[in-house]
Amino acid sequence: MEKGKKVLTGITTSGTPHLGNLVGAIQPAIESSRSKATSSFLFLADYHSLIKSQDPNLTHGSSFEIAAAWLACGLKPDVVTFYRQSDVPEIMELAWILSCITAKGLMNRAHAYKAAAAMNHEQGISDLDKGVFMGLFNYPILMAADILAFNADIVPVGNDQKQHIEMTRDIAARFNHLYGEVFTLPEALISERTGVLPGIDGQKMSKSYNNTIPIFLEEKSLLKMVRKIKTNSLEPGVPKDPTACNIFKIYKAFASKSEVDDLELLYANGIAWGEAKNVLFEQLNTQLKPLREKHKEIIEDRKKLEETLINGAVKARKTASVILQNVRQAIGIKSFIN
Ligand code: TRP
Repeated sequence: MEKGKKVLTGITTSGTPHLGNLVGAIQPAIESSRSKATSSFLFLADYHSLIKSQDPNLTHGSSFEIAAAWLACGLKPDVVTFYRQSDVPEIMELAWILSCITAKGLMNRAHAYKAAAAMNHEQGISDLDKGVFMGLFNYPILMAADILAFNADIVPVGNDQKQHIEMTRDIAARFNHLYGEVFTLPEALISERTGVLPGIDGQKMSKSYNNTIPIFLEEKSLLKMVRKIKTNSLEPGVPKDPTACNIFKIYKAFASKSEVDDLELLYANGIAWGEAKNVLFEQLNTQLKPLREKHKEIIEDRKKLEETLINGAVKARKTASVILQNVRQAIGIKSFIN
């Protein structure tokens, strides 16, 4: 049964999940999903992924990979409603309905579309819509449907998604104005994560920089990756500044306060880079080992994973079908006899 406010977030199904995702998105979402005061909806935004990928194997593989990753990292499908967007047809149905009351002008202002048009402009292409597909253009409407199909109260997202939540509120308000109060206006919860995790080259860890440490690497590969982390060329015995060090920054995201203090002392005493990397590796490996084992178990039992998601979709549709019933009634798409 649902309790308290509904917190809903979509997970993009692309790329191999890395430590930056773990610390920045997966762990905080799992932690907040444990709150007894709210009910949590988490879904794989697989229809969104078609905007970027038209490769069926990639589309399918990414969805599988991300589902397995979240469960391996500790998501509990019995306390969260965890589902694939594509298993909830009410969302697609609502997307059409919303698109009929959403001004094209509102979509013209969406960041992703504007960026694509601006790119054409910069390249001197006169058709600013060149290469822009309707999926990209309509993206904010699908996102509004994801949220409104559940009447979510709170939507935790990164800052880059703030505009989409504002658009969702605009769309919901317009619907309510036209047809009566059906939708809740959702609030964005913008994570104020400071201190981004660096990748092995020191830039923000991101698949677009090709500098990530994947979560489920085998031990040997993990060690290899840690060995690649960029440092300066200070010799062993020379005191080192932890605040400017990539090894230290990653360590800090995984170690306890007293462990961090200990390493800081070793830096002051001139720890060798190879040694610092060993300390980081040991810490990471200890924490990632159970996740790696869980992950292996999950990917070896595809049937169980499928069942988990189907059960999630059944739970999700219990909520969404009631809301869609209200939507259909409100707009006049309903039975002739009542
Ligand atoms: N667009 C979001 C992102 O790129 C993912 C997403 C899809 C989402 N649908 C959503 C997030 C609904 C919150 C609510 O991160």
